[in-house]
Amino acid sequence: MSGNKILVVFFSRTGTTRKIASLLANLLGAQVDEIVASTDRSGPFGYVRSLVEALEQRPAQIINSTRDVSSYELVVIGTPVWANSIASPVRAYLIANRSHFKNVAFFCSFARRGNRRALDQMRALAGMPALAECSLTAREALRGESSEILREFVERLERNLDAFRMSQRPRSTLAAKH
Ligand SMILES: Cc1cc2nc3c(=O)[nH]c(=O)nc-3n(C[C@H](O)[C@H](O)[C@H](O)COP(=O)(O)O)c2cc1C
Repeated sequence: MSGNKILVVFFSRTGTTRKIASLLANLLGAQVDEIVASTDRSGPFGYVRSLVEALEQRPAQIINSTRDVSSYELVVIGTPVWANSIASPVRAYLIANRSHFKNVAFFCSFARRGNRRALDQMRALAGMPALAECSLTAREALRGESSEILREFVERLERNLDAFRMSQRPRSTLAAKH
């Protein structure tokens, strides 16, 4: 897939979602953008702040990215699961950019549960269905590019992006192929 057209965006507090984002960017030949929260998330205070925002379903304050999301054919967005929910900085990112996406795909990293709910929230916040979705634990992320979950995710994404491209072609181009 063409790297100029795909952006992988993520927030990560302790590195797992960052690792998955970087693996995906390699597999997809995509550019990467990190969501940066305005307030510190490290240590016990950062943990509690993050937990409370997630429990209250509140967006965090984030530093606005300078990337023009509308110039990408596909934006792949990753979140850690917090309190069975999307992480508050990713909530803020989706709210800020939802009207600019052409296509989205989602991934989340989690420890035990809440991944399905977090993905449901991402879809609702983006206001559109995803071309593909997946969830990985930190252990699965350690498998790197040999992770079956990641491979299946990328394959599904490629298939659905191809279908999108076909649907965008003018009718005359399609007719000329036959
Ligand atoms: C505030 C907070 C709440 C969390 N809540 C959940 C949860 O409900 N379910 C779960 O499986 N993991 C939960 N986790 C664990 C993270 O989702 C998991 O460790 C994730 O891989 C961390 O990603 P990161 O290293 O990119 O920050 C929570 C972590 C934090 C900091």
